[in-house]
Amino acid sequence: MTDVFVIGGGVIGLATAIALSQRGASVTIVERDLCGRGATWAAAGMLAPEAERLEGDLLDFGIRSRDMYPQWIANLMRLSGQDCGYWCCGMIAPILMEGDRQVLSQHPKYINREESHKRQSGLGDSILGSLWLSEDGQVNNRKLTQALLTAARSLSIKILEGTTVYEIVRDRDRVTHLDTSAGKLQSDRYILATGAWTRSLMPLPIKPIKGQMLSVFDGDRKLQRVIYASNCYIVPRQDGTIVIGATVEDNGFLQGNTAAGIAQLLSNAIAIYPAIADMQIMETWWGFRPHAPNEVPLLGKSDYENLILATGHYRNGILFAPITAKWLTDFIVDGIDNSINQK
Ligand code: FAD
Ligand code: GLY
Repeated sequence: MTDVFVIGGGVIGLATAIALSQRGASVTIVERDLCGRGATWAAAGMLAPEAERLEGDLLDFGIRSRDMYPQWIANLMRLSGQDCGYWCCGMIAPILMEGDRQVLSQHPKYINREESHKRQSGLGDSILGSLWLSEDGQVNNRKLTQALLTAARSLSIKILEGTTVYEIVRDRDRVTHLDTSAGKLQSDRYILATGAWTRSLMPLPIKPIKGQMLSVFDGDRKLQRVIYASNCYIVPRQDGTIVIGATVEDNGFLQGNTAAGIAQLLSNAIAIYPAIADMQIMETWWGFRPHAPNEVPLLGKSDYENLILATGHYRNGILFAPITAKWLTDFIVDGIDNSINQK
């Protein structure tokens, strides 16, 4: 019998499945679509605990996960033989208002306008200075998904794509089985990694927050840093693609890009990095971030003794994947409960 069923094949489900498998568990992923086609596919892939201005325990959690990235990626590349576009490119967080500049000029990571231009040429005139966040970086989340899938297969993790979980069937304080489009599935333990769609299976306080995105192509590849402003971010990939994001919309699972959403992103991005005005638009898309109260993921124990939570990673699930996988594996295999929800 399979030890663990992971419900949801996004970055969180895949990363956790791999970590568990490497500790000897037998794992099956149940995914209703293709793995990695939810928020994981839509993301920008920034590894940005500082630019995202996380605070307190969550900042600590993010920095620890960012620090785990080099080794985590090396393990994935070893298992999959695939590149993940991991790039410690650093981030410029531009300051656009004089009042902000005065306050932030005391920040240890503050650099003035000239230094900002030295870090990255071609910045817009509206930039008065910036914070230089040298340790924040990025991974190509779509390549990462492919590497996670290949790695999972190399470990003989069973992947049931196109299989929807209709109900997590419970009896008192235990899950008895999953009622799915492939019939009844039964295991010792179940991990709930269903992102923004979690409420359709469990009454947990997770809601979707939509983000619209687009990409352009930079033939010159002159942009070499992520630019993370208060009204948009600009993420250059190593192949010349530049990802621009993202709106933050609390309107349920409303599908689609809007003219206003894309126009706003482009206008903000062009003000910050004017060369974008002449670049070709490659793609527009949208996704749903899994928002949890106080933006703190729900990890570990649930009301059911054999159901483990792995959801609510909101804006930082790509960043949080390595530490989430490790913490959940420590919890399941060793019984160590160091979840941030316990603090
Ligand atoms: P998902 O990737 O959404 O995966 C959940 C999976 O569960 C889906 O594949 C879904 O099909 C499956 N599922 C749901 N219900 C069922 C069911 N009943 N049966 C079977 N399967 C089911 N994070 C960062 O760290 N850096 C960024 O730069 C960043 N940028 C972002 C930009 C945007 C526009 C968005 C939307 C998100 C961004 N994020 C970023 C956040 C990040 O993408 C998410 O936190 C992360 O992908 C969540 O991963 P997940 O595996 O929990 O969810
Ligand atoms: N972390 C970037 C976003 O969620 O848009």
